Amino acid sequence: MRDPNPQTIYLKDYTVPEYLIHSVALNFTLDDENTLVSSRLTLSRNPASQSRDTSLTLSGENLKLMRINLDDGNDLSKDQYLQTQDSLIINAVPQQQRFVLSIENAINPKANTALEGLYLSNGMLCTQCEAEGFRKITYFLDRPDVMTLFTTTLVGDKDRYPVLLSNGNKIAQGELSDNRHWVTWEDPFNKPCYLFALVAGQLECIADRFTTQSGRDIDLQIFVEKHDIDKCDHAMESLKNAMHWDEQVYGREYDLDLYMIVAVSHFNMGAMENKGLNVFNTKFVLARPDTATDFDYEHIEAVIGHEYFHNWTGNRITCRDWFQLSLKEGFTVFRDQEFTGDRTSKAVKRIEDVNMLRTRQFAEDAGPLAHPIRPDAYIEINNFYTLTVYEKGAEVVRMIRTLVGAEGFRKGSDLYFERHDGQAVTCDDFVSAMEAANDIDLTQFRRWYAQAGTPLLTARQHYDPSAQTLTLTISQSCPPTPGQAVKEPLHIPVTVGLLNKDGSVAPCKLQDGDQACDEVILQLTQSEQAFIFEGLAEQPVVSILRGFSAPVKLVMERSLEESAFLLSYDSDTFNRWEAGQQLAGQIIMGLIADLQNGRGMHVNPIMINAFKQVLEQPWDDLSYFSLLLNLPSETYLAEQMQVVDVEAIHAAREFVTLALAEQLQTQLQALYLNNHRDESGKFDAGAIGRRRIKNTCLSYLSKLENKDIHHLSQQQFNTAKNMTDQMAALTVIVNNPHPAKQQCLDSFYRQWQAEALVIDKWFTLQASNSMPDTFATVQALMQHPAFDLKNPNRVRSLIGAFSQSNPLHFHASNGQGYQFLTDQIIALNTLNPQIASRMVGALTAWRRYDEGRQALMKAQLERIITTEAISKDVYEVASKSLIYKAD
Ligand code: TRP
Ligand code: ZN
Repeated sequence: MRDPNPQTIYLKDYTVPEYLIHSVALNFTLDDENTLVSSRLTLSRNPASQSRDTSLTLSGENLKLMRINLDDGNDLSKDQYLQTQDSLIINAVPQQQRFVLSIENAINPKANTALEGLYLSNGMLCTQCEAEGFRKITYFLDRPDVMTLFTTTLVGDKDRYPVLLSNGNKIAQGELSDNRHWVTWEDPFNKPCYLFALVAGQLECIADRFTTQSGRDIDLQIFVEKHDIDKCDHAMESLKNAMHWDEQVYGREYDLDLYMIVAVSHFNMGAMENKGLNVFNTKFVLARPDTATDFDYEHIEAVIGHEYFHNWTGNRITCRDWFQLSLKEGFTVFRDQEFTGDRTSKAVKRIEDVNMLRTRQFAEDAGPLAHPIRPDAYIEINNFYTLTVYEKGAEVVRMIRTLVGAEGFRKGSDLYFERHDGQAVTCDDFVSAMEAANDIDLTQFRRWYAQAGTPLLTARQHYDPSAQTLTLTISQSCPPTPGQAVKEPLHIPVTVGLLNKDGSVAPCKLQDGDQACDEVILQLTQSEQAFIFEGLAEQPVVSILRGFSAPVKLVMERSLEESAFLLSYDSDTFNRWEAGQQLAGQIIMGLIADLQNGRGMHVNPIMINAFKQVLEQPWDDLSYFSLLLNLPSETYLAEQMQVVDVEAIHAAREFVTLALAEQLQTQLQALYLNNHRDESGKFDAGAIGRRRIKNTCLSYLSKLENKDIHHLSQQQFNTAKNMTDQMAALTVIVNNPHPAKQQCLDSFYRQWQAEALVIDKWFTLQASNSMPDTFATVQALMQHPAFDLKNPNRVRSLIGAFSQSNPLHFHASNGQGYQFLTDQIIALNTLNPQIASRMVGALTAWRRYDEGRQALMKAQLERIITTEAISKDVYEVASKSLIYKAD
């Protein structure tokens, strides 16, 4: 039942813990429905605490308390402690010396559909403790600044739970009577309880080894369900690549003798960095060429890297409190982005990251749930595992690197690791280490941690032919966000390059600056600042915010011709792509206005010609080439509109796609044929690039809707031996009026019904389809035997995909999409509040739509908050969505 007045937690209220837990010995007697937990804690008063309270309060939720004992004396009687909904208060504990508290309690993993604490996934027992799940296992000081040595013994039936895993090293094992066995694990590193994990079940494993740079041999193991054992090789390779990369780039070596990864099919997020025992969503482990796409392969390596990198940025050095979440997440995302960039294509990876940031994170930062990367208040911390904390957090770390340079950044990270190893620290400690190692002042830069909202930069240029100077004037502002009406100017690195009219590089020489360079990093610190470039015999074309050097919106007036010029000549791969996006974006926005005003649509030939030029050039990086041919997404276009018009956006974008297909058909067809070959099982940049460019061409050509093209896509679907090609073909078949649509969907289902992750794709594809009958299909799929509201991957693949990746149908003007989503949120609320709360996200931006839709969305949000027994997760998101008004 919902707390009638859910409590808000504030950063300003932080105090150090009153007690420390030096060590804990845990003993689990495993049972699917009645697991017995006994915990032996060694505690003492924290000398740093000012509190005079002599009682001890531990957190605990949904626990059946059986016994409490202090210092091995008599069990405590009812008058010596108090049990509340979410805590256990021991009235008096020793204040002068260490003491031992023993607690026994029982829990029911099978009843745990929230997937937090100890739960069952396909018959396997596993845990998820971040952020505050440990308190659902046993009573504890469940906060990240309490770091403890863990010893864990697992006892269970040999057939039911043949594999028994926990953090650290296996130090003992044995057999018991009645077919049971036990294992004891010891983790030699202090850790907060959110990094605790246990796994027990019928698992198979693949094993490998890694030798560290200092010559230590590490055992690597990946555990999965039996039928998935043939899909683990890529994950293992990824792990070894990540271990090697962290040694090379950050000088960081792994610290235990064993590294284990377990894949589970019921998981709220992507993966979890538990010390020495990562638990992963199967989606980010399992891959075989015929079941996983090239994107899946890339994402698996990225997430394996992410969790591995947490061992230093998160585990060895952890967060003081949950407001500091970006300390570990922002930095670790930055690290995994660079890892993927080094492993694949830097240019492509940067574009993909910025694309996601600008569509999803910018929307979050402009909406009612906007918060700084270091939030200052929350009701439910699980709601703050956001794009802002993760992705904008990574951008902030990236800006620090831009400001201090790659070498300075390494000096700073070395100092950070040296100063804080073994500690629970703050974002400020990270910035201080960067400052100290580089002798720079990041005082103003720190505002990025405290201020929400996407800054808006406006740039103007003035060329003075007689002085041969170019003055670039940049102003910054930031819109108000909830609780922050007034914003201070930020310290923003703006990377700029100049081009001559023939496309060659023009020298960048700032007045009073160093000698001329190919590009400069402007330090924008004031509300408005002018930068004067000198020695320019002709007016250059300005390439600004190269590499997307700051997470901002930039407005600079540009003609279509100038965008087309930069698309041809900019040496910065990011800005070159961005020029194409601006060109296409401007043209599509113009067509949207035409549609809204009842004018006919015509695609400006400058756009066709620009694309034609891109198509006719030779390219090494075919993935990058494909990105240049992609139009801005409907979601990105929606971000650019005052009042989002989903129908006009869809129609205008489709119109441009068709025009390009018609007018560049010859080139697209040739490109398709040149790159279409069977290279299934090959994952080098060349093979991936060929698949990507070919499938981009197929997607354009499919708009032509003629028999030959129908045949082409069906042919590819029928003969594909890898999931990238099969899925690409099915996608175009489903998203166009293809005669064999249903037949292909059915055969795909029959082929893959035993592979849950492939069936997720099948759901997603239908849910995100823009064809007219989609809503009815989605409703029918809810009744499909393979649909399961208790499996987060399934929920995301159907309900999530429909509400977040199908703007056209989700925002149907009669409100049926909103009503449908709300029905599902209410059903999910009692099963899994975290997932329910994520699904509310599709309704939060209601103020961005027309009045009719606003009213319909608002009514559903109101229905949500007045639902009985609403969780605080859902309540926080829905109520904040309703309250805040942007201006
Ligand atoms: N720390 C995890 C990561 O980013 C995130 C995570 C996994 C998580 N599972 C969770 C966060 C459950 C909250 C709840 O690597
Ligand atoms: Zn993380």
